[in-house]
Amino acid sequence: MRLGIMTCGGDCPGLNAVIRAVVRHASHRGATVLGLEDGFRGMTENRTRELTLENTIDILDRGGSILGCSGYNPFHDDETAHLAIDTARGHEIDCLIVVGGNSSMGIAMAAQARGLPVVGIPKTIDNDVAGTDFTVGFDTAVQTATEAIDRLRTTAESHDRVMIVETMGRDVGWIAISAGLAGGADIVLPPEKRIRVEDVSAAISADRKRGQPFTIIVVGEGAMFEGDERPIGRQRTGIEPFFQLGGVGQVLADRLLADHSSEYRVTVTVIGHLQRGGSPSSSDRILAIKFGVRAVDLAIDGPHGNMIATVNDTIVLTPLSEVAGRIKAVDPELMKLAETFFR
Ligand code: F6P
Repeated sequence: MRLGIMTCGGDCPGLNAVIRAVVRHASHRGATVLGLEDGFRGMTENRTRELTLENTIDILDRGGSILGCSGYNPFHDDETAHLAIDTARGHEIDCLIVVGGNSSMGIAMAAQARGLPVVGIPKTIDNDVAGTDFTVGFDTAVQTATEAIDRLRTTAESHDRVMIVETMGRDVGWIAISAGLAGGADIVLPPEKRIRVEDVSAAISADRKRGQPFTIIVVGEGAMFEGDERPIGRQRTGIEPFFQLGGVGQVLADRLLADHSSEYRVTVTVIGHLQRGGSPSSSDRILAIKFGVRAVDLAIDGPHGNMIATVNDTIVLTPLSEVAGRIKAVDPELMKLAETFFR
């Protein structure tokens, strides 16, 4: 039995832990593993590398992916689709393990529709993959964002500042809310809610009246202002056309300062890709190992076309068709907690 594995979309902590777990368990089960570089891009360009116990021995705690990542989709036209499938055939891959987010699960389905059996493993710091409670990478990203808020609080306290911390999370507030709660933020503005500058300003004044001369505000990068349904960012062209989010924290700061610059200073910190880098937390490593082991069993024994998921602390299978292109909203309990806890 020959398995393929690739890491798709944006990187996150824990991808190497998945790769190592897959290689180890495949070896227990008598299977070999071929790594495809840079997701489906490397598959299309026939860039592969043999993965062995020896060359994956020391990668458990390493961030990023030794295979590289990309969100490339070869299945938009027949020519590139054939190139990708030919690579898999040429290397006699019996089943491909796709480690990715919502869109990558859609690409995996397209590969299976062209005759290549696939199994999915959910990963992304955003934790927005449908059909699983958690994705590999989320826990570490929350930890990184929490640590950033903790550090900013001490300087906010020392200088009576308003500190705005912009987190990643694209469409959903999983990171903003979780890190906001864990880091003791005063105000959290996730992408799900519209920002009312006058409400934020009133909350800052209330802090000061209560004798708290500083305020920590966490804003998700995808958050929008009331009356303007467009996130802040810029359209990128080139090899990966993409709407890159970023800048909502600064726009909020500018709007607050327009009326209150004589009352307080506002500092903006964009944590950005720091949330995607670094060594995975122990929870992410364990999740990566659980997913990796079950993915190998599923790749060998079937049924294919499913994603390994965790629901209520149990490993389950979710059909790729229920995952592809769907965004998982923030857990209603967490959202309710945020609504009652933050102003
Ligand atoms: O999906 C993960 C993520 O980190 C988002 O939170 C963020 O908006 C996006 O990727 C950034 O992607 P890129 O590095 O391609 O700009």
